Amino acid sequence: MKKIILFAISIMFSFQLFSQDVYQQREDRTKWFRDARFGMFIHWGVYAIPARGEWVQTNEHISAENYQKYVDAFNPTEYNPREWARAAKKAGMKYAIMTAKHHDGFCMFDSKYTDYKSVNSPAGRDLIREFVDAFRAEGLKVGFYYSLIDWHHPDYPNVGNHPMNGNKEYSKKKFNWDNYTTYMQNQVSELLTNYGKIDVMWFDYSWAEYSGEKWKATELVRMVKKLQPEIILDNRLGGNIELAKPEEYAGDFEGPEQIIPAHPILDQLGRNVPWEACITLNNDWGYSADNHYKTDKDVIRALVNVVSKNGNLLLNVGPDAKGRIPKKSLDVLSKVGEWMDINSESIYGCGSAPLSKPEWGRFTMKGDTLFAHITDSNMGQYYMPGMKGKICNGKMLSDDREMFIGTYWNGKRSYIDENDVFFNLGPSSNGTYQLDDEIDTVVKFKLSDTKK
Ligand code: GLC
Repeated sequence: MKKIILFAISIMFSFQLFSQDVYQQREDRTKWFRDARFGMFIHWGVYAIPARGEWVQTNEHISAENYQKYVDAFNPTEYNPREWARAAKKAGMKYAIMTAKHHDGFCMFDSKYTDYKSVNSPAGRDLIREFVDAFRAEGLKVGFYYSLIDWHHPDYPNVGNHPMNGNKEYSKKKFNWDNYTTYMQNQVSELLTNYGKIDVMWFDYSWAEYSGEKWKATELVRMVKKLQPEIILDNRLGGNIELAKPEEYAGDFEGPEQIIPAHPILDQLGRNVPWEACITLNNDWGYSADNHYKTDKDVIRALVNVVSKNGNLLLNVGPDAKGRIPKKSLDVLSKVGEWMDINSESIYGCGSAPLSKPEWGRFTMKGDTLFAHITDSNMGQYYMPGMKGKICNGKMLSDDREMFIGTYWNGKRSYIDENDVFFNLGPSSNGTYQLDDEIDTVVKFKLSDTKK
């Protein structure tokens, strides 16, 4: 019995060690990504012409023949990815992911495995190559979105959200799944061979049984890592990244879509899982006339929110058929950039603080530097929960001016927690000062010790 117990313990121990090792490798691989915190998502394809989002083909059951008119008309004469890259950089973004192929199957790169590509449309160019060159030239990291689903390939069956699902004639066709997965692997291999160092591979998406090994995911991921050993992968091949020992294809980060989780994301062993919330600027990924744009305030606060929980924000733009990022998106990006010019120190390389969320805003933290993000102005002093004796310095991030730090101005009271400390945005302990920035005013503190 004793032997069995010892054996079980040694197995558990080696399993822990193993998974710790894999975990550490992922931490190392994702370091730049977790430091970057802010990226640009680009959904661009021929669906910009109907301008009703990238799902238009399925939503309106458009046949391949009828969709062809968009391919034949795709002529983005104003495409200047260097301008896109400058807009991203000025906004404070550090990386960009562009759709190489979306669900409609149309390739924005010059693949030798299909004729269904931008080079054969009036565009006549490898749009992905230009994207990669331009963003790299501006110092941003680059990644590819690649749809596992394909509504154009003759061997991808008309199941699920396929535009021809329910079409009797189409259903009579024979589909050769191996042909499709080979096609997919070949294209991924092209993308990771012909365009230099690629920083992120962003697969989308798995559903029902079209998940995991249905995509030959282990084989695919091994090929990806062989071609690009340092690349990081999203988690949409169908694995579970939150397991103590995730599948080989579970990816390197979790990707909440159109939501910001309420807490940091942890795995079964309570360790941090890198994550990236992908969020649209209006309500579509691909270009559309939807006018419900997020404001600069929404975006800045979303960014601070995700960073306060150890996450990233991947903010989407949907360029139009001419190749322009909509002006409304550019305006938001530029205002976000103005805020980042002053406050990015509280974003890059930062993560959660071991403090609960205060009433007046949020905390982000890097090493022994704590950033207080004030989004709600206060009456008088601002409390720092449980931080009495733990803050040794406080200044406004924008201009380094000194902040008042002390106890409640009117002595001990039953409604004041003894362990809280207070700061204020001006010299007086009990004055009320206007926020420097209504959207998010950042105060920077040095901590003496956060563990006490
Ligand atoms: C969804 C949609 C897709 C979009 C993606 C972005 O999976 O199908 O259109 O590209 O989310 O996260």
